[in-house]
Amino acid sequence: VLVGGARRDLAGRHVVVSAGGTREPLDPVRYLGNRSSGRQGYALARAALARGAEVTLVSANATLPDPAGVKVLHVETTAELREAVVGAAPGADAVVMAAAPADFRPVDVSAAKIKKREDGSAAPVELVQNPDVLLEISQDRARPGQVVVGFAAETGDESGGVLDHARAKLARKGCDLLVVNDVSGGAVFGSEDNQGMILSADGEAVDVPLGSKSQLAHAIWDQVTIRMRD
Ligand code: CTP
Ligand code: CA
Repeated sequence: VLVGGARRDLAGRHVVVSAGGTREPLDPVRYLGNRSSGRQGYALARAALARGAEVTLVSANATLPDPAGVKVLHVETTAELREAVVGAAPGADAVVMAAAPADFRPVDVSAAKIKKREDGSAAPVELVQNPDVLLEISQDRARPGQVVVGFAAETGDESGGVLDHARAKLARKGCDLLVVNDVSGGAVFGSEDNQGMILSADGEAVDVPLGSKSQLAHAIWDQVTIRMRD
């Protein structure tokens, strides 16, 4: 369904979408982060709006303009992302975690800029794992029938192929749908296009061939809407 604006199948629904990559400060000028552009999450927000939804977009450091008509909550860290998503989830019919949260954060954030040392050695940085927002949202369904969607970029390795890893992640996270990107050929960050496989907890798999991020967004909402309850 490429003409999302023509169908209003999300009218009366509230959806929460997260987008972008979180950043964990090391000191006043530095952070640990990732290359997520936020484009897929923004495309999901715009597609849901076009289909009639009330949309809350939790945006982590994306440099994209706020889409008109969407409530945008800007966050920096995984902890802030968690607070915003958990706060918005109780009113949501669907939560889509397109953001790339940093998995770890520095244990201590230096109040002063970290300086180089005389002896040329590097200051060690101790990390601690961040909360898993998708897992938490999936476990504490804020309302019955809420559809929860995760994303995963995977590569095959000696322990299994892309789909093996994706199926295991879907089960581990407890979400309803997992959108899988095969990045074995090298991840294309900031690209205008995307492809994916939409796996569902009920065992289905929908292959979405390479196309615009808007096309993938609409294919995801197609799968979400058929799983929504009244
Ligand atoms: N996710 C999340 N909170 C985190 C990490 C990830 O909500 N702290 C969500 C992402 O937004 C995505 C899904 O979980 O929708 C899968 O992210 P991924 O990084 O693939 O999962 P991880 O559990 O972090 O596994 P990995 O060790 O492969 O990075
Ligand atoms: Ca991760």
